[in-house]
Amino acid sequence: MPHSPLIARTLPALSKALARLRARQSTLALVPTMGALHDGHISLIRLARRRAKRVAVSIFVNPTQFAPHEDLASYPRTWKADLARLVAEGVDLVWNPGADIMYPSGFATRVAVEGPATCGLEDRFRPHFFGGVATVVAKLFTQIRPDVAVFGEKDFQQLKVVARMARDLDLGVKVVGAPIVRERDGLAMSSRNVYLSDAERARATVLHRVLKDTRARMRAGAPFATCLDAGASAIAQAGFALDYLEARHAETLAPVAAMDEAPVRLLVAAKIGTTRLIDNIKV
Ligand code: PAF
Repeated sequence: MPHSPLIARTLPALSKALARLRARQSTLALVPTMGALHDGHISLIRLARRRAKRVAVSIFVNPTQFAPHEDLASYPRTWKADLARLVAEGVDLVWNPGADIMYPSGFATRVAVEGPATCGLEDRFRPHFFGGVATVVAKLFTQIRPDVAVFGEKDFQQLKVVARMARDLDLGVKVVGAPIVRERDGLAMSSRNVYLSDAERARATVLHRVLKDTRARMRAGAPFATCLDAGASAIAQAGFALDYLEARHAETLAPVAAMDEAPVRLLVAAKIGTTRLIDNIKV
């Protein structure tokens, strides 16, 4: 029978819950989320469970990582369904603070990120994003002090930014990446997929297909620039406005132009209608 997790919404309640979980020196893994949980999040939780004795999940839709024109107000909030899934997974702690707890009146401190956060991928189109992510994740790490934290590889640049920050600030947490979980037709799972109309949803499969086709051409020895141009055209033809389709070094995120610069990661971001999707694969 799965047990109900401890649920904390204030810092004193969080401290109390952590003291209980940390009794007997238990290791603790954190899965930071913004809720609207899907099978991708569940895979992170299961990986966390393999890495530590106790698992905490945070659910907080973080305002500082949204620009004013973005979807903060409409971001899906599905607390009841999320909690049911967390109970079924046997999660030990849910940290669900309000914005007034995370950013109380007078809040005036931000984490400034460089390196992977300024490599010209997501940061080019969402300049506010990684500062907001780094600030909230630094707070989550400080509040919860996990031994391990699990992030999805779907947000590949985010994973690199958070791992770099944890090392640079000596936060004492091991950041672990988890593979992308896909729908049967290849679309990477995302809380934002609910925004897609049926027609957009049908066309959204093009992203994963293009990633795989482009990878096959690259592996066969075709020049990267030619492969990327063909991929970009296929994405545009499917009705997407492409932000980028790029080959990058999988560790440094520096641009790469040939297979001998491996490990290579292929990353894409594109918008269909009002929905922006991202995806990536290992080449
Ligand atoms: O990937 C997400 O859901 C968010 O960016 C994160 C890491 C929970 C920070 O708000």
